[in-house]
Amino acid sequence: MAIISSLRHFLFLALLLGYGVFELEASHRIYEDLQSLEPTGITSTTRQQPYRTGYHFQPAKNWMNDPDAPMIYKGIYHFFYQYNPKRTVWGNIVWGHSASTDLVNWIPHKIPIYPSQPSDINGAWSGSATILPNGKPYILYTGINPRDDQVQNLVVPKNASDPYLRDWVKSPKNPLMAPTAQNQINSSSFRDPTTAWLGHDGRWRVIIGSKIHREGLAILYRSKDFVHWTKSQRPLHSAKGTGMWECPDFFPVYINSQIGVDTLVLDKNVKYVLKLSLDDTKHDYYTIGTYNQTKDVYTPDKGSVDGDSGLRYDYGKFYASKTFFDSAKNRRILWGWINESSSVEDDVKKGWSGVQAIPRSLWLDKSGKQLVQWPIKEIEKLRVNPINLSNKELKGGSVLEVPHVTAEQADIEISFEVSKFGKAEVLDPRWTNPQLLCSQKGASVRGSLGPFGLLVLASKGMQERTAVFFRIFKGHNKYIDRSIVESFGGGGKSCITARVYPTLAINGAAHLYAFNNGTESVKIARLSAWSMKKAQIS
Ligand SMILES: *[C@@H]1O[C@H](CO)[C@@H](O)[C@H](O)[C@H]1NC(C)=O
Ligand SMILES: *[C@@H]1O[C@H](CO)[C@@H](O)[C@H](O)[C@H]1NC(C)=O
Ligand SMILES: *[C@@H]1O[C@H](CO)[C@@H](O)[C@H](O)[C@H]1NC(C)=O
Ligand SMILES: *[C@@H]1O[C@H](CO)[C@@H](O)[C@H](O)[C@H]1NC(C)=O
Ligand SMILES: *[C@@H]1O[C@H](CO)[C@@H](O)[C@H](O)[C@H]1NC(C)=O
Ligand SMILES: *[C@@H]1O[C@H](CO)[C@@H](O)[C@H](O)[C@H]1NC(C)=O
Repeated sequence: MAIISSLRHFLFLALLLGYGVFELEASHRIYEDLQSLEPTGITSTTRQQPYRTGYHFQPAKNWMNDPDAPMIYKGIYHFFYQYNPKRTVWGNIVWGHSASTDLVNWIPHKIPIYPSQPSDINGAWSGSATILPNGKPYILYTGINPRDDQVQNLVVPKNASDPYLRDWVKSPKNPLMAPTAQNQINSSSFRDPTTAWLGHDGRWRVIIGSKIHREGLAILYRSKDFVHWTKSQRPLHSAKGTGMWECPDFFPVYINSQIGVDTLVLDKNVKYVLKLSLDDTKHDYYTIGTYNQTKDVYTPDKGSVDGDSGLRYDYGKFYASKTFFDSAKNRRILWGWINESSSVEDDVKKGWSGVQAIPRSLWLDKSGKQLVQWPIKEIEKLRVNPINLSNKELKGGSVLEVPHVTAEQADIEISFEVSKFGKAEVLDPRWTNPQLLCSQKGASVRGSLGPFGLLVLASKGMQERTAVFFRIFKGHNKYIDRSIVESFGGGGKSCITARVYPTLAINGAAHLYAFNNGTESVKIARLSAWSMKKAQIS
């Protein structure tokens, strides 16, 4: 397993920048036994920034958090969200609603669900949509009752012929699921029903996030008619020491295909994904495993671990995420909330808080061990003014400006070609956490192969900047270390979303640079960058 330094190695970065929101995808195409580490360092200056994002979903004003009940209905995409109509901080929670034909441009609709009956009088919290076999969308959501207990409710469209689903009617049977003395459910930790699925026995299943002491639970309910629900003795899944599980999401993914699968499909050629949002750390993690329908139990695969050390969709700000099956384009789409990093005072000043990440298509990697995500194709129609570079050498210690890009709002794809692997630094075997590694060995700590990458949202002169970079190490036995790559994402595909609040790099003053702060040169195999138009959102 000696290192053959003539082998070429490509590292790929794609970024979506939208006035302070920063979405990154990184991957590398590699040759067997030549793995590289691809940590990504982010530095940010936190200060109020006056601009709203240009193409990330957000309401006109006030607070937004979790995505709710995303779906496609009669050719229209629907997006609901947790919303405080009165303030820029969390509270007075109702549902917001917008509709779209392309997942990029959105038309706001009136508030569809707000407190109006005892089962939700203190709040209408998160939930999910299920499209029934008769084509009707039903929404289960968490309501807060007069005792502040968390209970589960149903709403159905008032007029199913309306593709915009403007009016919703609450079930007179609400709440359909509630904590009782018998069922031992923790009444303040029982929320966020998933999309339901139908078993071979004709009964519906749904899971709800919960905990007992420090054990996270995906409580399972079954129903014949979607109205009368019975709690299963056994949760679908549980894990000790993980704390409260919020916003569970449970769905199938095809093995060896990027095509999405409807939650209703019980197919042999699938794996299952269980995503959980950890209330304690505000991280979304997922496991990949099998679902035994007879037992109604989900079992993560060996090596797919529960809890905060598990795989994440995103290693930055990305929480309370939820997927849906897009039956029009046969893909599964992921939504996730990007919280602010600014202070409450700054949020009050700017009049809003929270955006949604650009929806991402998601599928199972060929390895079967992790998911792969990519921003939906539709976002590319906002691209204008392409800039291309290729075969450009970046000498050690050099910086190259990429001109003519509206660098506050841009889409960038860059691939680096690295060949001198023999020159890679030796990795200290104690470094097992790539995130820690990259934050402590920032872009200013020079090595041989790296750091190299991009400086985004940079001011002229680069006093202010956000560095996104690669740095290549090899294991202490002069072998490229494989395990550290796997702990980062199981084979080299990762996502990071961050909030950056530039103070100088605003109003057309943002610049984009490629840099190489290593001592060895690397090559930009290809760079394409586009400025991005604004989408129609609110
Ligand atoms: C239901 O929606 C359809 C389509 O928008 C509309 O034509 C019809 O008038 C609506 N029916 C009622 C009772 O509002
Ligand atoms: C129930 O949930 C609440 C809120 O998180 C928590 O304080 C309490 O300890 C939980 N009770 C049990 C038995 O887990
Ligand atoms: C599912 O569980 C049942 C009951 O324990 C068992 O008989 C069956 O073999 C399991 N199926 C799979 C695919 O593991
Ligand atoms: C959102 O961000 C604020 C400010 O940084 C922080 O206090 C809060 O805990 C965050 N909430 C979540 C769910 O990430
Ligand atoms: C720039 O690169 C993009 C993406 O690789 C390609 O589609 C486009 O044709 C290129 N444009 C020019 C002018 O070379
Ligand atoms: C490169 O490293 C030098 C020395 O540590 C540092 O001063 C400089 O800021 C670094 N450049 C970048 C782009 O991080």
